Amino acid sequence: MVDKKIGMTLTRHIYEGEREHPDATGELTGILNQIALASKIVSREVSKAGLAQILGFTGRENVQGENVRKLDVFANDVFVAAFNHLGHFCIMLSEEVPEPIEIPERYSGGQYAICFDPLDGSSNIDANVSVGSIFGIYHKISPGQGGTKEDLLQPGRALAAAGYVVYGSSTMLVMSAGHGVHGFTLDPSVGEFLESHHNIRIPERGTIYSANEGNYPYWSEAVRGYISYVKQPDSASGRPYSSRYIGSMVADVHRTLLYGGIFMYPADTKNLAKPHGKLRLLYECAPMAYLIEQAGGAASTGTGPVLDVVPTEIHQRVPFFAGSRENVEELESFIARYDDARTGKAVGSSNE
Ligand code: AHG
Ligand code: MN
Ligand code: MN
Repeated sequence: MVDKKIGMTLTRHIYEGEREHPDATGELTGILNQIALASKIVSREVSKAGLAQILGFTGRENVQGENVRKLDVFANDVFVAAFNHLGHFCIMLSEEVPEPIEIPERYSGGQYAICFDPLDGSSNIDANVSVGSIFGIYHKISPGQGGTKEDLLQPGRALAAAGYVVYGSSTMLVMSAGHGVHGFTLDPSVGEFLESHHNIRIPERGTIYSANEGNYPYWSEAVRGYISYVKQPDSASGRPYSSRYIGSMVADVHRTLLYGGIFMYPADTKNLAKPHGKLRLLYECAPMAYLIEQAGGAASTGTGPVLDVVPTEIHQRVPFFAGSRENVEELESFIARYDDARTGKAVGSSNE
């Protein structure tokens, strides 16, 4: 008897997941397959990014006389084109587009809404550093045909599925539909995402911290206190922690998911520009928080779970601290302690 099985593809994983849930309509399968297709197209372009100058594509037009689009605009166009005629969505939100993207009426009867960051970390492209795409999928809640902002302004807790694609040394799609987090690596030779990471669990505690420390002077006293703490030697808790910061959220969160530790983008007061941090709730923080929680970790605004934030604006930002549960709880305890200090309650030591 031949007892060999070929690798588990993303398609089969999604299909088998839906088969286990008899009430599933198959729509999520169609959506995730379409995301996989779009991300393969983006992956192909990202891998050619460094060739643009060599081939003389530096101007506004390439050799065929076509306009050369920036990669984040290209990625946006690919995702929009992949989604808007699918029939599974009622409305979409992209980082690249100021207003919600309506679906042509004929195809707008879908029962899902999607928020996405088509290309995350795009400032890293020219240095050949990993970039990514992020998506979060909600059930439609508005009445009638088509979607409204109501379908987008839902807390992360209501997500039906979320994921990201990291375009790195390999292209990898990491997703969850509420039953753990699974990772699939693109095998370019067969053009398929093959399951490479089954049921990813983030370590309970890690010894890596990840932040743009150039913003240190503009952080709150509590965040600065926490950063001083992680740098203080203490062999029992593995301090000082190692510092790693790529500057692509997808890549930084991916590493955090696999190795543990804490990734953060706190609020800062630099030019009063980022009182709520930099990262966007709907297509950056909520999907990543969903994955991190599904993997057993925690994601916080500093004062509570990111997934509980009820959005009021489609492009709103939130402070973001995510990673190993114990590390995030420790950070939250610093914030609570300093908040206590401000409100005149009992003050603990800030740098134990
Ligand atoms: P995007 O490329 O989608 O605009 O996002 C960039 C984000 C995110 O990827 C990263 O974590 C953060 O910007 C880095 O910001 P700093 O350069 O301020 O550290
Ligand atoms: Mn981004
Ligand atoms: Mn982006």
